[in-house]
Amino acid sequence: MRSIIDITDLSITEIDALMATASDIITHPDDYADSCRRKKLATLFFEPSTRTRLSFEAAMYELGGNVISVAGGDNSSAAKGESVADTARTVSTYADIIAMRHPKEGAALVAAQKSTVPVINAGDGGHCHPTQTLADLLTIKREKGSFEGLTVGLCGDLKFGRTVHSLINALTRYGGIRFVLISPEELKLPGYVKNDVLKKNGIPYEQTTDLAAAMPSLDILYMTRVQRERFFNEEDYLRLKDTYILTPDKMRSAKPDMCVMHPLPRVNEISVAVDDDPRACYFKQVENGKYMRMALILMLLKEAGRI
Ligand code: NCD
Repeated sequence: MRSIIDITDLSITEIDALMATASDIITHPDDYADSCRRKKLATLFFEPSTRTRLSFEAAMYELGGNVISVAGGDNSSAAKGESVADTARTVSTYADIIAMRHPKEGAALVAAQKSTVPVINAGDGGHCHPTQTLADLLTIKREKGSFEGLTVGLCGDLKFGRTVHSLINALTRYGGIRFVLISPEELKLPGYVKNDVLKKNGIPYEQTTDLAAAMPSLDILYMTRVQRERFFNEEDYLRLKDTYILTPDKMRSAKPDMCVMHPLPRVNEISVAVDDDPRACYFKQVENGKYMRMALILMLLKEAGRI
């Protein structure tokens, strides 16, 4: 029985199949309306979330299934000191599949080792966030047609931003991609991604602090929020939080078909005035996320012999 902890737990063939299923769900939603009848998804979220938790829950309802939920560790036995391992073991006796978000890197892996049902990592600390990447990939595919030959700018908090780490891990396996890593010095991509993924696979990339200079070369601009909750002190956060703010003025130097993405929530990184630009794709990402989560739930429940 398989869990999805990291985006590399899925092969490129499987990711392509998930995108094909998601596209089919978009065109024929009724065909899937009873696929998970009487099955239960447990959402265990020990960190704040709007989109990820609700899209998992909406996904399960749209597949005809049910949802049980812990939202906020303060309401669960985690607040009494229960371990992630014991929580996972317990919840897997009630549910057919678990989606879990936790502030500690590696928590989803620990849960998967004790769970008797598939566990999907919905974000573990600053480490990774595979289902956001599935949403991102479907968005790029639908907007650009393919991944081949794209120059992808990743901007903001590349150190703590888990969505960026997972996206790099996925896109590098498609080949033909070039990255521009745009961040303040203090928030550069960690070595375990830069060296072990980009350098090791000979992926072309450049690092810069200058968003305006990078802008004209980009096919995708992936903005991220500075991850306040992962900083050791508030002073550093306040100093760095508004380093990059995308405005309609900055959009003028971008390609006419550049795609602006953001996993959301945004704070100040993208001015609301950019929302009306046809190149703004971040609310499309939200929608695509639900369809990819539906496809993933279906795949894992089938594999586990539960549907
Ligand atoms: C992201 C996350 O939780 O990592 N949000 C999300 O799931 N869409 C990005 C963020 O919180 O900045």
